[in-house]
Amino acid sequence: TGYTTLDPGFVNTASTKSAITYIDGANGILRYRGYPIEQLAQKSTFIEVSYLLIYGELPTAAQLEDFTNRIRRHTMLHEDLKRFFDGFPRNAHPMPVLSSAVNALSAYYQDSLDPDDADQVELSTIRLLAKLPTIAAYAYKKSVGQPFLYPDNSLNLVENFLRMTFGFPAEPYELDPEIVKALDMLLILHADHEQNCSTSTVRLVGSSDANLFTSISGGINALWGPLHGGANQAVLEMLDRIVAEGGDSADFLRRVKNKEDGVKLMGFGHRVYKNYDPRAAIVKDTAHTILEKLGGGDQLLDIAMGLEEAALADDYFVERKLYPNVDFYTGLIYRAMGFPTRMFTVLFAMGRLPGWIAHWREMHEDPTTKIGRPRQIYTGYTERDYNDIERR
Ligand code: CMC
Repeated sequence: TGYTTLDPGFVNTASTKSAITYIDGANGILRYRGYPIEQLAQKSTFIEVSYLLIYGELPTAAQLEDFTNRIRRHTMLHEDLKRFFDGFPRNAHPMPVLSSAVNALSAYYQDSLDPDDADQVELSTIRLLAKLPTIAAYAYKKSVGQPFLYPDNSLNLVENFLRMTFGFPAEPYELDPEIVKALDMLLILHADHEQNCSTSTVRLVGSSDANLFTSISGGINALWGPLHGGANQAVLEMLDRIVAEGGDSADFLRRVKNKEDGVKLMGFGHRVYKNYDPRAAIVKDTAHTILEKLGGGDQLLDIAMGLEEAALADDYFVERKLYPNVDFYTGLIYRAMGFPTRMFTVLFAMGRLPGWIAHWREMHEDPTTKIGRPRQIYTGYTERDYNDIERR
């Protein structure tokens, strides 16, 4: 047709304008609404960063209190929605449980589905932020066969999530402030990353005027893939495999470089970062602190650091500008905190939620938004005549 350009994987095509997140991949820079990720990770909180991403500015104390209180009021799940979890097999991966339950929010909260009604969008925003940690904790409880805990709204979002995940109904749950802080910081690091696969999915689904819950559910599914958010689980599985096979990282790297059976160094490489992922640098420091405190995982941390060191000195990785990404060290921290490997991508989804919401809302507020509808270059048959079945 003469006007269609082909760009597989959108390597060089901007799908939108956006004022939310800035990445300079050559220099390893990441900023949310202009604020460097390093400052946010050190000084801010996940709830504050959520506010920043969604509304564009850091909140005043009064705004933050109001936002926090509104979220507190919505942490419980509809009792019928809780029964939803009964229908899943216990050995289900928590990611499809998560995305299904989030999609089901559209069935239970029909008073906040209209994408053109600002109050309804606000209500669905608050409901999602409040309920996703509860859904995530219940997906875990389901997998281990333990009773669900109601949220305790005297706790903050991360504390509440940890208690609902690891606590028991009749026992007090002792929160470790260092773990709370580390998890909060990891959620900040995951909170947005401009037009990645899951965020683009949320925008594309939302561009048809589909409601916020269902658009976010689509994003969760996109995130599950091992090339995207599923990489944090894949990294730990890779490290476990290296240990199980005798701990020979050099041999593993050789297989990666020879592309044997398509094996990759998981947690390495990025479409945009061609320099160290600034998030990975922060996570690496935290991994040291948390593993020192909690113990366990030291052998895996040594293997991970050995792999990183060897890869960064190896021509294969240097030529291709492959560096550790955010997922390389996070799994070690999550495991030390007590999360099973399968929950890692759920934690990523909890972190990415405010970013997805911010992008969905930015798209809806932009009067130039059109339904997402890529073109194609047709490579099939030209016209041919239908054959009756007995003549084929
Ligand atoms: N291990 C070995 N080789 C790699 C890796 C890796 N992790 N990543 C890229 N390469 C090679 C790739 O084979 C290709 O080599 P060649 O030119 O010889 O064919 C070259 O580097 C360029 O890679 P690409 O696949 O064209 O790059 P991309 O931008 O399409 O893919 C990526 C980016 C993140 C999907 C890819 O680097 C990858 O699969 N990494 C492992 C999975 C991972 O860690 N994903 C998490 C990404 S960060 C957080 C998130 O988004 O969730």
